[in-house]
Amino acid sequence: MKQVNVGLLGLGNVGKGTYTILTKHADKISGMSGSQIDVKKILVSDVNKKRDIDVPKEILTTDAESILCDPDIDVIVELIGGIDTAYFYIKQAILRGKHVVTANKAVIATHGPELMDLAKKNRVLLLHEASVAGGIPIITAMLKPLAGNEFTEIIGIVNGTTNYILTQMTENNMEYDTALRLAQEKGFAEADPTSDVEGEDAAYKLCILMLIAFGVYVDPKDIPCEGITKIAKADIDFASQFGYKLKLLAGAKNTNGRLKYYVSPTLVAESHPLASVNNEFNALFVKGDAVGELMFYGKGAGPMPTGSAVVGDIISVAKCIGTDLLDVTPAQPYPVTEDDLELIGESKSMFYINFLVGDEPGSLGKVSTAFGNHGISIQSVMQRSQGEAAVPVIYILHETKRKQLDEALKEITDNNFVQEITSILRVLS
Ligand code: HSE
Repeated sequence: MKQVNVGLLGLGNVGKGTYTILTKHADKISGMSGSQIDVKKILVSDVNKKRDIDVPKEILTTDAESILCDPDIDVIVELIGGIDTAYFYIKQAILRGKHVVTANKAVIATHGPELMDLAKKNRVLLLHEASVAGGIPIITAMLKPLAGNEFTEIIGIVNGTTNYILTQMTENNMEYDTALRLAQEKGFAEADPTSDVEGEDAAYKLCILMLIAFGVYVDPKDIPCEGITKIAKADIDFASQFGYKLKLLAGAKNTNGRLKYYVSPTLVAESHPLASVNNEFNALFVKGDAVGELMFYGKGAGPMPTGSAVVGDIISVAKCIGTDLLDVTPAQPYPVTEDDLELIGESKSMFYINFLVGDEPGSLGKVSTAFGNHGISIQSVMQRSQGEAAVPVIYILHETKRKQLDEALKEITDNNFVQEITSILRVLS
């Protein structure tokens, strides 16, 4: 049987999950891959650290070079996270003719096109299924069984931390800070949750999804991105009275060659399949011109779900080694130029606006007229007064450009038609 040797960079959560799956299912994996797959070396920061996993100490090393230069190692599995060091290791591995598997969304979103090109030139595979939505096999699905489609839309709940927080706010009556603390206690949120709650993690994943689905590279920094730190429980409650759930969405839509994309807290109609994706779960809602609508659902993080995707990639690599399959296995989709697809970022959207309005004659009329003056059509309005001097008034607006909305809001605030704009949220349409 063919021998395939793996060098694992990192033995954190995902490293442990990957190692556990490779050893636990060794027989099945060798049957599926036609190879004996062995982890030959593992890069760790401290060989003597006490670990809750049974790994032979002699395969642990703190010397990355001893793995990257080992001629017997066929596949480098990068699981250290972060950008610069991971990028360096991946590049070194490719240049030395080794296949690479990584779970690292930040490095693929930041350097993906360059690394994919380099892999192609060096006739090695660079697979990264685990970089988006952990255990959900969305990348392979788009590159293989769905490859015959033109994708028109992809909308993801791709961050489990924020989905857990928003679910707790919705279902268990918590404000943001309490829900974040609970997420940290349960191990869903990091001690420093910034990348998750500010939407950066989701932007990395959307960048990779757009590369695969639409063949375009948009720098994650150029993706319009808003996190969930300013979300108030009151807005989640008001929105539910209109039949919406609040989700952090990472979306991209191709309308006649114009691609819009965003990461944003967004109200989703309760009838939409994404509305029922709760807690730490992830989901991808995809529209292809041939297949129609599809939804993928599962765990987007954690040692075993992420390890599941990493091991799947290792098996794919093992199957290719020693064959000419490298010629037909896509390293990346067809490249698209801006002549084919115009990158417009933000575009029209429906909006939810929460105003604090003085409870006096004509208030609502003036606000509504201001929207009309800017060509904005109102879908629904709700005022909840219990006799206070100022009351929340919620507007749901039909699709409009953000610029038009901002002009209308300027007219409304300049003329003191409202006391405050409490919040503005996008509505999925
Ligand atoms: N921090 C991510 C999440 C998982 O909360 O979904 C890793 O990308």
